[in-house]
Amino acid sequence: RILDVSPTLVEKHSFKHFMLKEIHEQPGVVRDCLQAYINSNWDLEFEAKTTDELHPATVDINQSPIELGLPDELLENLEQVQIIACGTSWHASLVGKYLLEQLADLPTTVEYASEARYAPSPLRPHTLIIGVTQSGETADTLAALSMEKQRRLNAPTQFKPRLLGITNRTESSLGQLVPHLINTRAGIEIGVAATKTFTAQVIAFYLLAIDLAWRRQTLSQSRVQELVKGLRKLPSQIELILNTQEAKIEDFSHQFSDTKDFIFLGRGINFPIALEGALKLKEISYIHAEGYPAGEMKHGPIALLDKDVPVVAIAMPGSVYEKVISNAQEAKARDAHLIGVTAKETLEESDVFNNILPVPLVDELLSPILAVIPLQLLAYYIAARRGLDVDQPRNLAKSVTVE
Ligand code: G6P
Repeated sequence: RILDVSPTLVEKHSFKHFMLKEIHEQPGVVRDCLQAYINSNWDLEFEAKTTDELHPATVDINQSPIELGLPDELLENLEQVQIIACGTSWHASLVGKYLLEQLADLPTTVEYASEARYAPSPLRPHTLIIGVTQSGETADTLAALSMEKQRRLNAPTQFKPRLLGITNRTESSLGQLVPHLINTRAGIEIGVAATKTFTAQVIAFYLLAIDLAWRRQTLSQSRVQELVKGLRKLPSQIELILNTQEAKIEDFSHQFSDTKDFIFLGRGINFPIALEGALKLKEISYIHAEGYPAGEMKHGPIALLDKDVPVVAIAMPGSVYEKVISNAQEAKARDAHLIGVTAKETLEESDVFNNILPVPLVDELLSPILAVIPLQLLAYYIAARRGLDVDQPRNLAKSVTVE
């Protein structure tokens, strides 16, 4: 069952490629997703706390601000989360792990579906199993979820399957396999390299993690409010990056048209963004690119560095900022050309970089959504400059329905 949609049914408008159009659709996608699942006015009511009779509260601030429509029996008394995915969805899931652990205090594993199928992890009780697939048709993801469902059906009650899907296609095979879905509502994505569906998956994880944090009372109400307010600002912050940085990135990426290798470094919640930046680049430009946790560079990748290997370091202000800067300095000492994705406010401190891709300063936990945007543009413009078929890269398919 393949749900591929003919590109002729979707307009490219003035964009040269679908991928570029889809990158530009991200502010709208994030806005729609937040509007659909965040109780409107919750944060404003929370801020007002008391309301007068002329302006009665329309929102109960004692309820979770997030409304994913998921039943209590799916989410109550959880002890851990197990996520199964492939490709870009696996990267979104790694951000999800970070959020579920840090916000909702839930131990979380993220498995490649193609690995999980052949080495199932020991059964644990009260586990939420999440299948993440934008197409809902990836064969390995469906097979791994199906296996997990079967073995839990025959196990004692505490192991009963609690299955949730995160997908952009609710009508897909995933929709038949799992009883509950979060619809990422990103709209059809034509470019083989996922962009807007990735951001929408990450947004789904924010919403799920905040909802679980609320239910499990692992965060204060004011921290929840802070996060909800921060989420609501993301669409205009993505717009700002697109409006102010795109031309610069287009211009600056030309110097890498003949580059053979790239290294992407990140730590903490932005380590998966380093992986995603590297994957975008290799998928569409065919340049060898590796994503690494910045602190691990010294255990191998540093041997690759010289003046011909650019290093992209994601250095967002927060708990690991100084660590990433110091890892970047180690790369600079090996003559690497250093590109920093960082927040405007910290530019002075970061004179270590040869080029800076600035993004607005946000709560560290929300920074992956902004950090990924310049990396998508960088990959796009390097590939476009090389004259490659950005939307249909060689050897790749939008959805892989075979093992
Ligand atoms: C293919 C695509 C990738 C995608 C992966 C998983 O390999 O080329 O862009 O990330 O499948 O797809 P899914 O639909 O399961 O998210």
